[in-house]
Amino acid sequence: MSRALVAPSLLACDLARVAEEVRDVEAAGADMLHFDVMDGHFVPNLTFGSRLCAAVHRLTRLPLDVHLMVTDPDTMLEAFAAAGASRVAVHVEAVHHLHRTLAEIRRLGMSPGVALNPLTPVALLEDALPFVDTVLVMSVNPGFGGQRLIPETIPKLARLRTLCERVGWHGTIAVDGGIEAANAADVRAAGAGILVAGTAVFAAADRLRAVAALRGEEVV
Ligand code: DX5
Ligand code: ZN
Repeated sequence: MSRALVAPSLLACDLARVAEEVRDVEAAGADMLHFDVMDGHFVPNLTFGSRLCAAVHRLTRLPLDVHLMVTDPDTMLEAFAAAGASRVAVHVEAVHHLHRTLAEIRRLGMSPGVALNPLTPVALLEDALPFVDTVLVMSVNPGFGGQRLIPETIPKLARLRTLCERVGWHGTIAVDGGIEAANAADVRAAGAGILVAGTAVFAAADRLRAVAALRGEEVV
C-alpha cells in the first residue's frame, strides 16, 4: 500500500495568521491543503470562498483541495478554477446533475471528486465512479471541525473498496472528519489514500510530528 497523503484543513487554522499557518504546515510535510467551503445552507455553518483560495494559492505550491459543502456548487466552479484550485469535491447529496458538474470540474482543468455524508450509502456512487478521481468519505457530519469520528464510517470504507473493485475504479479514497493519530492507522488500513485533518494538525504543538503520526511514520 502506498504512503497515505495528509491534507490539513484550513478550517482549523488561525485565520488571522493564515499566511504563517500555510507556510508552517507546508514545512511540516503536508501533501495538499484542504479547503472547507460552507454556504450556511447545505451545512449549518459559513466559511470562506474563492477569494481566500486565491490568496492562499499565492502563498504556497501545495495543491489546493476544495471541499464544497454547498447547495449549488455549479455557480462556484469557474471562480475556484481561476483561484488555483487543483481538486474539487462536490456532495452527492447536493448535486442534481452530477455528470454535468463533474464534467465541468474536469473541463476547467481540476480533478473531480465526489463527497458523501456518513449515512449516504456507497452504492449511490456506482455510476459516478468513472467520472471522479477521488471519493471523499465524511467520517463526521459536515459543518464543523473538531468532532469525533463516527466509528461506523470505517466499515463503510470496506464496502466502498468492494464496490471500487467490482467496477474497476482505481481512484483515491479520502476520509474527512475526526481523524487523529489514534484512529489514523485504522482509517489507512481500511483503504484511505488521503487523510484530511484539521484539529489534529493545527492544534498540535509540533505539526511535523502530527503530520508524520497521521501517516504512521516515526520522527526521530
Ligand atoms: C467538516 C470538514 C472537515 C473538517 C475536519 O465539515 O469537512 O474537513 O474541517 O476537521 P477535523 O479534523 O477537526 O475534524
Ligand atoms: Zn472537508
